[in-house]
Amino acid sequence: MERREQEFLITKLIRALGTSLKNRGIYPAAHPQVRNPVEKIHKDLLLFFADRNELVLVITDGTLVFEGVPIFSLTSSLETFMDRLGMIGVPAIIFDKGLTVGDIDIFVRFLHETKEQGLTPKRIQELLEQAGAAHIRVKPMDEEEEDDYAIAHQVYDNAISVVVSILRDVRLGRIPSGAESEQVVKDISSMLTRNRDAMLALTLIKNFDEYTYNHSVNVAVLSLAIADAMSLPGEGKVDVGVAGLLHDIGKTQLALELIRKPGTLTAKEFEEIKKHPSEGFLLLTKMSHIRPSSAYMVLEHHMRFDRSGYPLQNPEHRVNPNSNIIPVADCYDALTTMRSYQKARYPQQALEIMTKIAGKSLDPEIVSIFLKTMGAYPVGTMVRLNTMEIGVVSGSAHTGEKGQKVVVLFDRNGNPLPCPEQVDLVEEDQATETETERRTILGTVNPNLYPSMPSESLFLSAASA
Ligand SMILES: [Fe+2]
Ligand SMILES: [Fe+2]
Repeated sequence: MERREQEFLITKLIRALGTSLKNRGIYPAAHPQVRNPVEKIHKDLLLFFADRNELVLVITDGTLVFEGVPIFSLTSSLETFMDRLGMIGVPAIIFDKGLTVGDIDIFVRFLHETKEQGLTPKRIQELLEQAGAAHIRVKPMDEEEEDDYAIAHQVYDNAISVVVSILRDVRLGRIPSGAESEQVVKDISSMLTRNRDAMLALTLIKNFDEYTYNHSVNVAVLSLAIADAMSLPGEGKVDVGVAGLLHDIGKTQLALELIRKPGTLTAKEFEEIKKHPSEGFLLLTKMSHIRPSSAYMVLEHHMRFDRSGYPLQNPEHRVNPNSNIIPVADCYDALTTMRSYQKARYPQQALEIMTKIAGKSLDPEIVSIFLKTMGAYPVGTMVRLNTMEIGVVSGSAHTGEKGQKVVVLFDRNGNPLPCPEQVDLVEEDQATETETERRTILGTVNPNLYPSMPSESLFLSAASA
């Protein structure tokens, strides 16, 4: 169905609902003047649902918005209907596939009979459920959050393109400017401030074919999250982010077969790999807009906390204090990514491994900051709730907040939900206006026991839930 047809249908829907609502004031509920418009629109909606699962209508300042575009072709009688929605407090309505004439009837009755004004979306939802409307939902106003996920995606994608172009230039023997890297890092940093979860969630995108690019951006994002938690000053933070983004740039100077080689490397091959931090350092010192501290962080990213790594340093060498950040981010991303020679660890497993190597290869203080940053159940962790539902953590509990967000994937009987639902573990209880913990995390579950779901679609569904 084309947009024009959809708009036409939506206008008809609103008109029918408006007529039915108006007539309800004059005739009894079963009167044809009330019933007919509802039955007619129900038939039309079946066409809409032929290739869609839901119809989401957002009401902003009395204007009806469908998929981001306002529908202005509403007549004054429809405006009365919109006013009614606005007065009650309905911010957005979702009609689900499976909608029945009875559901529409209940909705009209609800609009007709509800005397209260300015109800919260949650309360409206409860009332509709109590009345028995099974396929009509009221969507809470979380447009801002949706926007955040969309912006985070743009920031992430842009970062990928910048890495792709830098690495291509370097492979062609050119020395790219570092200006774009600096800008990308600033964008990631502001996105982390705006909505940390939305940005962090994207680091779970593990594109096996594009490993190098995703890994570079993920390490930048994770390093910046650590730098944030350490309250590094602005410039210091940018340096860390740029180093994270370009930490493996030196690998462009090695043979592709070596970089892509699955399985264990021979001693000779490993000697080659060991060159990448120094090669990266050299490249960064030649690039404009890159400060020396970023170059040093790249040189030092495999030296290890106990200095048992590479390249070997003379005893006088003083490591940049922020150089210990990149290895923590690097390790987490590598552990949680599937490679030809390793299975991807799930976030909590990765954190456990990192705790074990803290003090040896990783800086224990930074690991502990990272653990706090990621929370007890990091974004992406599969968990069982006290309701026996299974879900994936999609938003972490920030300091001072009690709740986490979980996308519920399986119901209490282990059946996959057709439409994953994001829930806040702490929800405000409207009746008592107190915070009641309705769902809690019982513990982690092994994601390998459940059918996999691409992380990206999972977080997109979380964003639009
Ligand atoms: Fe590296
Ligand atoms: Fe790396």
